[in-house]
Amino acid sequence: MNTATSNPSPEHPAPFEWDGVIPARPEDPAHLPIFKLLYRASRRNQALDCFLTSFLKYRHYLPAVAAETIIPDFATSQVTIRDLPRGLWATPLVDTLSVVKAAIGFKSKKILEIGSYKGSTARLLAENTPEDTRIWTLDMDPNHGEAYRGTPHESRIERIIGKVENPLLDPHGPFDLIFVDADHDYESVFHHSAVAFRQLAPGGVILWHDYQQNNYLHGGCAVPEALYMAARTFRKDILSIEGTMLGVYSEVPGWESATAAGRADGADHSNPWTDGKIRRI
Ligand SMILES: C[S@@+](CC[C@H](N)C(=O)[O-])C[C@H]1O[C@@H](n2cnc3c(N)ncnc32)[C@H](O)[C@@H]1O
Repeated sequence: MNTATSNPSPEHPAPFEWDGVIPARPEDPAHLPIFKLLYRASRRNQALDCFLTSFLKYRHYLPAVAAETIIPDFATSQVTIRDLPRGLWATPLVDTLSVVKAAIGFKSKKILEIGSYKGSTARLLAENTPEDTRIWTLDMDPNHGEAYRGTPHESRIERIIGKVENPLLDPHGPFDLIFVDADHDYESVFHHSAVAFRQLAPGGVILWHDYQQNNYLHGGCAVPEALYMAARTFRKDILSIEGTMLGVYSEVPGWESATAAGRADGADHSNPWTDGKIRRI
């Protein structure tokens, strides 16, 4: 927990504070146990999980905004991609691309990735940002970062090994852009979000991965629930970015998520496969 400064102002805002208490997660609706039962009876069939999850529309907790309304130059910035993110936990390309476009658009100079895995996103960030941009990757896997090791970009990426905690990050922060993508259970995401807010430079931006996942019943992902409660508890406008699995919070002048929240237009979360929207030929 931080201590407050005496005279906070827009230029010198009070540091982020959290009492360390994780609030209860939002209650699940009454029909969810039936869905879970069906899923277990199917021997944890992934396709059934995806199908049933598409009915859990209440989980779209955050207001959704178009990427170009929250990330500068989103529609025009160019990203170079050589190798593709690979591996079981690699971030899908549309999401990686959006994170990289955020770093380009916001001209972020200090970037932190919380949960880095092979380092594919860190490498793409390095490949698409100027030489004076530095990247820190935090992961409890001591071998994380194989995607950029031995490349010319390695010198701009600092690996931090350990579990997500402020003392590991304090010597390096604050950061202009933080990408949160480690554990996805409710308590972890809430805690990691608090760490991200604590480590964020004034005028910075935070992105979270796996805000929307199309399989919920396997039980591993509570990012939507955690971000919803983090937004309420910390009084921060966290939004989702349409067409991606990203959550976003921004204090960047002119690109604040608090302002963009007013433009959130109730994104279309319908499923074209089940809603009869696909033209039958
Ligand atoms: C989904 S992967 C990250 C993918 C990566 N962001 C990318 O774009 O390719 C999650 C990573 O978070 C790490 N992780 C999970 N829980 C963690 C924790 N509490 N502290 C630090 N690292 C953690 C795992 O070791 C794993 O490498």
